[in-house]
Amino acid sequence: MKKFFAPFLFLFPVLLTAQGMWVPLLLEKQNEKEMRSMGLKLHADDIFSNFEPSIKDAICQFDGGCTGEMISPDGLLLTNHHCGFDAIQKLSSLENNYVENGYWAKNRSEEKPAEGVTAVFISRMEDVTALALQGVTVGMAERDRQSQIDKNLAQIKVNAKKEKFEDIMIRPFYNGNQYYLFFTKTFNDVRFVGAPPSSIGKFGSDTDNWVWPRHTGDFSMFRIYADKDGNPAGYAADNVPYHPKRFLPISLKGVEEGDFTMVYGFPGATNEYLTEAAVRQIGEVLDPAKVSIRDRALKIMDGYMRKDPAVKIAYVARYASIANAWKKWLGEMQGLKTYHAFDKKKEYEAAFTTRIEQNPDWKYRYGNLLPRLRKLYEDIEPYAFARDYYLETMVRNNEILGLASSLSGWIGTYEKNGEAFFVSKQKDATSGLPDFYKDYRPEVDQTILAAMLEMFAEHVRPEWGASDVQAMAKEKGGFEALAADVFKNSALTSQAKINAVLAKKPADIVETIKNDPAYKLWDRLQQNYVANVQPKIQELQPQINLLQREYMAAQMVVFKEKRFFPDANSTLRLTYGKVRSFSPRDAVRYEFQTDLDGVMEKYIPGDYEFNVPEKLISLWKSKDYGQYATKDGRLPVAFIGSNHTTGGNSGSPALDARGNLIGLNFDRVWEGTMSDLNYDPAICRNIMVDIRYVLFLIDKLGGAGYLLDEMKLAK
Ligand code: ARG
Ligand code: ASP
Repeated sequence: MKKFFAPFLFLFPVLLTAQGMWVPLLLEKQNEKEMRSMGLKLHADDIFSNFEPSIKDAICQFDGGCTGEMISPDGLLLTNHHCGFDAIQKLSSLENNYVENGYWAKNRSEEKPAEGVTAVFISRMEDVTALALQGVTVGMAERDRQSQIDKNLAQIKVNAKKEKFEDIMIRPFYNGNQYYLFFTKTFNDVRFVGAPPSSIGKFGSDTDNWVWPRHTGDFSMFRIYADKDGNPAGYAADNVPYHPKRFLPISLKGVEEGDFTMVYGFPGATNEYLTEAAVRQIGEVLDPAKVSIRDRALKIMDGYMRKDPAVKIAYVARYASIANAWKKWLGEMQGLKTYHAFDKKKEYEAAFTTRIEQNPDWKYRYGNLLPRLRKLYEDIEPYAFARDYYLETMVRNNEILGLASSLSGWIGTYEKNGEAFFVSKQKDATSGLPDFYKDYRPEVDQTILAAMLEMFAEHVRPEWGASDVQAMAKEKGGFEALAADVFKNSALTSQAKINAVLAKKPADIVETIKNDPAYKLWDRLQQNYVANVQPKIQELQPQINLLQREYMAAQMVVFKEKRFFPDANSTLRLTYGKVRSFSPRDAVRYEFQTDLDGVMEKYIPGDYEFNVPEKLISLWKSKDYGQYATKDGRLPVAFIGSNHTTGGNSGSPALDARGNLIGLNFDRVWEGTMSDLNYDPAICRNIMVDIRYVLFLIDKLGGAGYLLDEMKLAK
């Protein structure tokens, strides 16, 4: 019997499990008891405190979108390989290819400044809901409400007593029903300490991405530097290692099925409280559209990459990033269907409706919410589809139109703000071009453009731009001919050509770019979008947001016995669960742990996804695993747990019941990629690299065992 078909589980999954991404400030009130009953040996204020050093002082947001953690008193920072990848790539050259070969600084002078990389710590946080919503009344017009809130937030910022080197950030929670204030500290002298070769840090690459069983050593290491007083400072040769208030001790004990675990980090965005109508639209309309577009673009890229190793190197990062979201959406749409998300949402809404029917006040206040949301989602559907279609075909998957789009802001300032302003922005607007052209292959992009135009013409409504594209194609003799014509005559196709344009007088730059065929094509499509699609979205989306906010508040009133965690919003959260195997379907069971034998099972000599370094093979053959081996002599690689995570949690520490580091979060399992919309505790698992594999790779493979001297190992 497959448990997930039991209908009673559909009803209140929140009551039965510890799912959720919890606000650290509220742990004592909301979670401590449950966490301790699950095995936690700490108290809430060991994990988060505004006053005393706590584990939160070891956690930072890394480089904007990931999480990192302090693992030594000298500011040693651990995060994922895919989180450090950009920095590693920028520091690499053909002679010193750290992406390919890995790197380990032999001493601090060999640690390499990773320009632009930031690490943000949270010093304190506060609930400022009452102040933020002061003067906001029921039934207030949305615009008035927002401007009242904006005024309040500005006042809160003025009054907040921040210390030197602190910044202030206020974020809405629960769809805008609550507000929290954060005092943050941002360090930007971050230096690259080391990483394994990509064949380990990215082992399995796109094929294994979002999939369990997994065998990736997805980690990299940096160090935070500060001024001599321990405060954030820009890079300076005489900066010193940062001494965090807390760092994480590391446990080599390993994990067993059922062990308590928690993951502490900066999850980006989830939507767990949407209605059935909304989730259905994502799973049945928007995801499939985006997936089919990326399918096409990825196949084209792959074709060129297979033919030419130089193209392969140039496009590998772009391919990985486009494929990452593509694969997630695919898993999401399949998971929603397979695991009955729509039925679950329907049953939940039925329970909500039953309750409000029994209470006249609720019925009066909330009775219209679900029908109105359903209607609004119906109304917005064609526009939302057209928006995603436009963005995917004309901006995201197409480099030349994407470039036109990103230049348009600057070009637009010439008329709006005058020549002097335009000139002052030239550096900002064009500084990314060398990076762009370094990996740009017009022949690849041209083929993609033809395909994107064809898909757009076929799937978007004629009056919303498709007939326009068809007419253009007809005039030139087809989509391929249209794309060829654009590429033949555009100056956006190479650094040399665009340099020639940028050397002109400001008025001529603007004139030339505005008349460039690629820019013109983008502009025409964009105008179609702005005229036909955007106004309706701008009209409907705020109404949806308002009702979603009210629906969120209503759920919290109507299901008062239930705990609600706020959707992820890139702020610090704690999620907890257990090390857990799972069964995705009849007769299939996934074990909770992988090991090095599994890496060698997947090994394909010379393959770009499944190759491994010779040295790893010899360590495997001699079983030279040292203190990192399990009792039965295996080397653990990765494990899964029922921690509720999302994008942004990459690099987050996985901690045991005592707060020791046992792993590094980096992904989720295929069947559970739907978890941003429909977390199902039976199916959804996060994937972590085992810390013993990390240390083995540093020590035995990398020969950088001296780094372990500054760590604290709890054996
Ligand atoms: N799927 C993980 C996440 O969303 C890992 C991505 C990096 N790995 C890759 N093969 N692209 O970010
Ligand atoms: N791989 C993701 C990240 O980079 C984590 C996830 O989506 O589970 O944050």
